[in-house]
Amino acid sequence: MNETRHRVLDALSDGPVSGPALAEDLGISRSAVWKHVEALREAGFTIASDDAGYSLAEVPEFGGLAVEYGLDAPFDIEYHDSIPSTNARARDLAAEGASDVVVLANEQTGGRGRLDRDWVSPSGGIWLSILFRPDVPMAHAPVYTLAAAVAATRAAREAGVEATIKWPNDVLVSVTSAGTSSAGDDDVLVGGEERKLVGILTEMEGEADRVSWVVVGIGVNANVDPDSLPSEANPTSLQAVRGEAVDRRLFTQRLVETFDTLRQTPESVLDEWREYATTLGKRVRVETPKGVVEGEAVDVEFPGRLVVETDDGRQTVSAGDCEHLRPV
Ligand code: BTN
Repeated sequence: MNETRHRVLDALSDGPVSGPALAEDLGISRSAVWKHVEALREAGFTIASDDAGYSLAEVPEFGGLAVEYGLDAPFDIEYHDSIPSTNARARDLAAEGASDVVVLANEQTGGRGRLDRDWVSPSGGIWLSILFRPDVPMAHAPVYTLAAAVAATRAAREAGVEATIKWPNDVLVSVTSAGTSSAGDDDVLVGGEERKLVGILTEMEGEADRVSWVVVGIGVNANVDPDSLPSEANPTSLQAVRGEAVDRRLFTQRLVETFDTLRQTPESVLDEWREYATTLGKRVRVETPKGVVEGEAVDVEFPGRLVVETDDGRQTVSAGDCEHLRPV
């Protein structure tokens, strides 16, 4: 959002304020004030006007300006009602030299998941990609994927959904047969009751010693019907678990703000990740590019390696598909 529009919005939220007073405060013409007010109305803001002047009555449920309004993180939001893939768009922006942009969409028509899978992204979700340029070696970049999982988990918990993280970056909810969440009950955490709420796909470019850009793509099944998502992924949604729609604007703001804090202190990510992890202490089977590793997941190491106690000793795993097994 441009700077003046931000200031108009701030003044309206403290309103009522008259057009002439606003024009004088901001050093712009009255017709420019009127144009900003109209643009905000077109973006879905309800702006009341009476004898006392203009005042902000309602912020839209979702959208770029809505998310930027009150956002406490230095990102521009580029919003699309519908787009093939926010990650693809963020990669294009990276190629143009952009940074600190969140590409946000209500719907994706060609969403991509890990392992080149499709990611079904109907209207009502929160599909976003965060583009930034950290000054770190490429080997450290996986920590940002874990940071995204922490940020999404915290936002879900603030929305009343007891999400947990499965290594490396799936955000899950354990759901009872009645459909309610039940984090902490080990009996239901295994055996197909963990449902996927959020998926994360990180892409990056750079030289070995320095990242050029990172795009962290986060797909949140927010206000979507899990029956409209592929059943193989065992999906659920915030709306299904809560029994009512989530405020996508607030959720997105919390997610982006937490991610912003964590990206500045990568060394703090693992402790937060451990706090939310459901994988640690469980028996796991990880399919890695080098073969299968099976044993008890005992810890996570910077920048995101899983430490597994196997029959042949400790092994660390950098990447792979992780399955939680029933205790023996
Ligand atoms: C996974 O397979 O679990 C990762 C899914 C990542 C989906 C998100 S939605 C926003 C961003 N845009 C994409 O095309 N993919 C990611």
